Amino acid sequence: MCGIVGYIGTEEAAPILLEGLRRLEYRGYDSAGLAVLDPEQGLQVAKAKGRLQVLADLTGQGQKLTGHMGLGHTRWATHGAPNDVNSHPQVSQSGRIAVVHNGIIENYARLKEFLESKGIAFVSETDTEVVAQLLDYYYEGDLLDAVGKVLHRIEGAYALGIVCADEPDRLVAVRKDSPLILGYGANFHMLASDVTAVIQHTREVCYLEDGEVAVLTAYGAQVYNSLLQPVEKEISHVDWEISAAEKGGYEHFMFKEIMEQPKALRDTIFPRLRDGEVVLDEVSLTREELERLDRLYVIACGSSYHVGVAAKYTLERLLRIPVEVTLASEFRYCDPIVTRRTLAVVISQSGETIDTLAAMREARRLGARLLSIVNVVGSTIARESDDVIYTWAGPEIAVATTKAYSTQLAVIYLLGLRFAHLLGTVGEEEYAGMVAQLRQLPAKVEEILSDTEKIQYYASIYFNHDSVFYIGRNIDYAVGLEGSLKLKEISYIHSEAYAAGELKHGTISLIEDGTLVVALASWGDLFDKLMSNVKEVKARGADVVGITTRSHGAELAKSVDSAIQIPDTHPMFLPSLEVVPMQLFAYYVALMRGCDIDKPRNLAKSVTVE
Ligand code: M6R
Repeated sequence: MCGIVGYIGTEEAAPILLEGLRRLEYRGYDSAGLAVLDPEQGLQVAKAKGRLQVLADLTGQGQKLTGHMGLGHTRWATHGAPNDVNSHPQVSQSGRIAVVHNGIIENYARLKEFLESKGIAFVSETDTEVVAQLLDYYYEGDLLDAVGKVLHRIEGAYALGIVCADEPDRLVAVRKDSPLILGYGANFHMLASDVTAVIQHTREVCYLEDGEVAVLTAYGAQVYNSLLQPVEKEISHVDWEISAAEKGGYEHFMFKEIMEQPKALRDTIFPRLRDGEVVLDEVSLTREELERLDRLYVIACGSSYHVGVAAKYTLERLLRIPVEVTLASEFRYCDPIVTRRTLAVVISQSGETIDTLAAMREARRLGARLLSIVNVVGSTIARESDDVIYTWAGPEIAVATTKAYSTQLAVIYLLGLRFAHLLGTVGEEEYAGMVAQLRQLPAKVEEILSDTEKIQYYASIYFNHDSVFYIGRNIDYAVGLEGSLKLKEISYIHSEAYAAGELKHGTISLIEDGTLVVALASWGDLFDKLMSNVKEVKARGADVVGITTRSHGAELAKSVDSAIQIPDTHPMFLPSLEVVPMQLFAYYVALMRGCDIDKPRNLAKSVTVE
């Protein structure tokens, strides 16, 4: 969603801010803006609807805005249409205070009414302008003091960057329920909504907590709590390379990230396999605590939720403990049966998805223990969990997740095996066999990726279809959900995933001549049943792409129009192999349709508003 970057130091701020915004583009946005402060020129603001390039052109690549401090923002519209006026920074009526904001000010309408009654005129439709106007209203020569007063009046979620023309030597940052980090340099300091925006300049960062306020100067950064009392912050070192967040010769981040999956899987799995055993040092649950659990709740959104659906099949089978999978956005409203004997497994790539965060806080309030599976180190979900297992996928930039999804699945396998071993719900021989198979998974993914031509060819046959159904049974159904989401989010083709047995209960009425059906037939025990479903849709005119393991490849080829084979593995690990051709299929289809693959319309990488 929206992106924030701020800089104060000895260099010209605007080019640094534009570069930071470029690195935040992946989050999704529809307009962008800059505010740069110079003691002589005053506050200079430039905003533009559309791609960042429009703003860069407008400002002569930043050269037209002079000054050593400023703020940049990419906006993903919530309140008011995406246009120049509603873009951030929002500036107060006097022109003194500029604000960039991620999140939503929930009581903005009441505050706006109050300010209008004091004669203040608004120019935008945004909730953010209320913050700028309110700050100005309370400003009496000390920005920090005004911030303190405003924080008592605003409700909702916010990460704020604030500059005041009367105080050209400090930037203020505020955070509540929306991520914000500080970057530390020798003669500069930065603020940003995520590390990618500052990594080119510094690897020393700190993560602001809810309610904290930071004052940044060129030579220092002081953080305060919500009562404006100074607090000491721990500075963390970011250890991934900047190249990880660059395309490195690939046309799209999504393709690069698909290709990075073997490495991401190795990084996630191998350090946790020692002497034929799964070792999860980061999880402190004991055997006794596991035995006391009466259920697991998996909470997540989007693709992470799809990992949850696969996790239900895997974990119930391995642990014999009931597993509920809930969309995070529904969790708070479904009166969940959570007790002190519940383990909530929270899955999130970004670690900042607001629905997931809110759901996990609710689970905590109800007494659950929280175990999260997160990709972004230091993110809010990671920090608020009792146990965190990081997926070592590295930065994922494309909006459509691929390598994070794959590593989340891998963590589910590790977790399932570790817990099953502790509980004794899996025999030694089966356990050893599964651990051995798990070790081979990255190489098998590599094998699929080494030959993409066939999938590219199938994409060229089918890219013009306007409706696609993914069908599968058991864990194949779980992967179908992800295959379908991949296709629809980047190619804009209408697509649905169904448990194949459900087709006859309604959906089959939609199958007609030329409908594309992707049949996932890897789960060996159910292969014949799935083939019956394939026959049903073929009888109604569907074109069928089938995916199965090598052992069933020849059989499958007899029944479908286009067949894809994946290597054999333990059935529980099939999703990791099956998803890869579907990621590639979605990618090539989107490419052939000329879609903006890394930044699909209306979507944001990290969804930080409810
Ligand atoms: O960062 P999270 O894993 O919490 O994000 C959840 C979803 O927003 C995310 O998986 C989304 O569905 C992806 N864009 C799908 O590719």
